[in-house]
Amino acid sequence: MLQPVSETALNDIVDAKPQYARVYETPTGFDLASNTAFTSGQPFDYYRTLRETAPVAWTPVPHAAGFWAITRYEDVKRIELDPDRFSPQLGGINMAYGPPGKRHVRLHGAALNTLICLDRPYHVPLRMQHRAFFTPDYIAELRKKVEVKVDQLLDVMEKKGPVVDMVPLFSEQLPLFTLCEMMGVDEKDRPKVIRWMHYLELAGHMFAESAQGRRISPLFLAKFLWNVRQMFRFGEKILQERRRNPREDLLTAIAQAKLDDEPLPQEFLDGAWLLIIFAGNDTTRNSLSGTMKLLTEFPEQKQRLLNDPSLIRQMVPEALRLVSPVIHMRRTLKQEAEIAGQKIAAGEKVIMYYGAANRDPSVFKDPDQFMIGRENANDHLAFGMGPHVCLGQRVAAMQLEVAYERILDRFPNVRWTGKTTQAPNNFVNAISSLEIDLGK
Ligand code: HEM
Repeated sequence: MLQPVSETALNDIVDAKPQYARVYETPTGFDLASNTAFTSGQPFDYYRTLRETAPVAWTPVPHAAGFWAITRYEDVKRIELDPDRFSPQLGGINMAYGPPGKRHVRLHGAALNTLICLDRPYHVPLRMQHRAFFTPDYIAELRKKVEVKVDQLLDVMEKKGPVVDMVPLFSEQLPLFTLCEMMGVDEKDRPKVIRWMHYLELAGHMFAESAQGRRISPLFLAKFLWNVRQMFRFGEKILQERRRNPREDLLTAIAQAKLDDEPLPQEFLDGAWLLIIFAGNDTTRNSLSGTMKLLTEFPEQKQRLLNDPSLIRQMVPEALRLVSPVIHMRRTLKQEAEIAGQKIAAGEKVIMYYGAANRDPSVFKDPDQFMIGRENANDHLAFGMGPHVCLGQRVAAMQLEVAYERILDRFPNVRWTGKTTQAPNNFVNAISSLEIDLGK
């Protein structure tokens, strides 16, 4: 029988030491457990040191269970492909959920009671029930709407230009539009989704600060709680409405989904709502902005696209490899395992660092180089791999393609000015502003 993951997952044990002796000494120089450390971007140099000297590195977390950081491509792949041993359900996919009593109960439940945290036997049947909205035919139709939207967004940017912040004007608008079209969220309600996403992006940092006894501004906390409440209320209302009056949209598929012949309980509807607005929005937003940085840092690659725009399709997987918008996913061991000579006990956590695996030189030659047309660019792990591989990967790639076809056609001299900011978040590469010069 389907039980809420939030009731069955193991609670993190703070300060627990690893059961087996550590084979590798964890290098110093970066704190993977810190959210603020990621405001300067992903630590690619530190990832390199980890891959070379400590591919399975014990990392304590002050407010949650410590974990083994996994940075080599083959090790990440092995974990992804063996969910019976490395389970998302047993402890969730995030680095930290906060101790009982210090959690936001509904947010905590929704973060766990969701497709991405399910193991067998429920994961596959639930995933299959979303499938109609991720087929090539569906995406080809969606693409037509995305093309129109991209042109409208670029019109606005041009009017405000030449120097603009790409994030609020473009990178966060496009994924929001696409997702709301898929979900069937009315236009008037869409700006709220962006606001909720900003608060969600700060949730991990806020709970970590609070769990470590640091003060959270009461005003921020009040706004956060209000927004989270509104987000769940809205999701509950719209999903119940779709149960009564089905439409042709993704929210109807979620509202009508069944497990064990029963409609999903409210906990799982909350989880589906949270997953879809976060997974689909934030990730694509960051890959749109991250690609602009790459095109500026590698002008000769940009010139190749200008000379031959048909290369944009090949640029997308290479950009995703280098940007790696999702920083990590966590798994909990159901049985003990040995990775790169390190024994890991049942119940302990491993965290897969996609950005590190995606720059593993044993798989990608000159891994820090942006090389459009790289022969194995599609082997990147930015979307994960195996049974949980990103359901929205084609939707994301389509948006990147359309966006850069239109951007480069209209603004061939566009460039990032060098100014950018990132939110404190060690889970997604959260680019919150990116100044660009449209060059005209
Ligand atoms: C560049 C954009 C995106 C990136 C980098 C990304 C990345 C990921 C990653 C790393 C996972 C976990 C894979 C694993 O555990 O092996 C995932 C899962 C998922 N993604 Fe995405 N994603 C993106 C866009 C989207 C979009 C646009 C949607 C929806 C429209 C979406 C929906 C999902 C869902 C539903 C899952 C859970 C799948 C499952 O557990 O079966 N993602 N994504």
